[in-house]
Amino acid sequence: MTVPPPRSGRSGGAALAAALVGSALAILPPVAGEGPPGRTLPAEAVDAQDVITPIPASLGADPDRVALGRMLFSDTRLSRGGDRACITCHDIRSNGASAVARNLTTDGTPLPRNTPTAFNAALSFRLGWAGDIPSLPDQAEIALTHPEFLGGSWPRILAVIRADPALDGPFWAAYGRDADRAAVIDAINSFERSLLTPDSRFDRWLRGDTHALTGAERAGYALFQGIGCAACHQGVNVGGNLFEKVGIFVTIPNRAAEVLRVPSLRNVAVTAPYFDDGGVATLPEAVRLMARAQLGRELTDAQAASIVAFLGTLTGSYEGRPLTAPAAPQP
Ligand code: HEC
Ligand code: HEC
Repeated sequence: MTVPPPRSGRSGGAALAAALVGSALAILPPVAGEGPPGRTLPAEAVDAQDVITPIPASLGADPDRVALGRMLFSDTRLSRGGDRACITCHDIRSNGASAVARNLTTDGTPLPRNTPTAFNAALSFRLGWAGDIPSLPDQAEIALTHPEFLGGSWPRILAVIRADPALDGPFWAAYGRDADRAAVIDAINSFERSLLTPDSRFDRWLRGDTHALTGAERAGYALFQGIGCAACHQGVNVGGNLFEKVGIFVTIPNRAAEVLRVPSLRNVAVTAPYFDDGGVATLPEAVRLMARAQLGRELTDAQAASIVAFLGTLTGSYEGRPLTAPAAPQP
């Protein structure tokens, strides 16, 4: 499969330089012709499209394969203990992730990192917090078989599918053959490519709906850009297309200064807790820590609230329903 190339523009080095300079974020000339035909976008939205582009409504996947992948995504029989599926950690009925800081491996120990949302992962250029997983099919193979996630085995996975007419029939219809490893991975990949959340208020504004954002939210976006957040969090996923050191000015408490893939901020208002270890519970706190660690700035409460107001406009919809935070974990 092909992951769409990251929107080009700034290299990691340039982004870092821009971040270090702080406010001097280079603005490239506006891209012409990206608005709806026959409609003139306000200059402000045209400028913004250079930094962030709207989530597409579809990446064009085969509906039969998507439907099959959807079934596999929540089929616990594929896991080692028969007790968990992708949806156990990536709850696509709410936010595509989970409410706990770290989910448990099949051995019952906490995973090293927080579960990122599966929504819009197809739009990021690399996967995983460290960005070390090249593609969705690679990720699916790891998730299905590694003991941290489902711990399944291929002979068992294929036997379960072939023995169940509710899966075997659709496999023949979609692939013209019995389920095999390549088809299973392709089906999951096809489904994941359909996990997009278009139509956030921010995207509606980018497309020319001047009333989609309040003045306060637009001010929050201006601050996000002006102080340099957008040097790292940019492109269609507002992140997901650069590698950056964490803790350029000061280290975030309890976190080693390491290089991670800049995470997407799409739907970030409903994907608490935050950071790779899930160690920060609220968005205002995450925003203040980012400003301090990545930009060397102390934000006032009002400034943090302003950026949080903008981030809230990045919540999109899946199957026509806005994403929501999952129910809080039981203590
Ligand atoms: C036990 C919880 C758990 C299960 C089950 C699980 N995942 Fe994940 N998933 C994670 C965690 C944690 C990460 C981040 C791993 C890392 O970066 O080290 C992740 C990362 C991902 C990502 C990358 C997201 C991004 O933006 O980088 C995708 C896509 C994904 N999983 C899909 C799946 C699929 C498909 C399945 C089922 C086949 C699955 N996951 C099962 C916890 C889980
Ligand atoms: C130099 C690059 C860089 C800059 C500048 C930057 N960030 Fe980040 N951001 C990152 C990286 C890398 C992470 C992942 C850190 C981690 O998980 O340990 C991150 C994580 C986050 C998260 C947590 C996302 C999640 O899903 O857990 C939020 C929220 C965030 N940034 C907001 C901001 C805001 C707001 C600004 C501006 C005040 C900003 N960032 C500036 C690189 C950057």
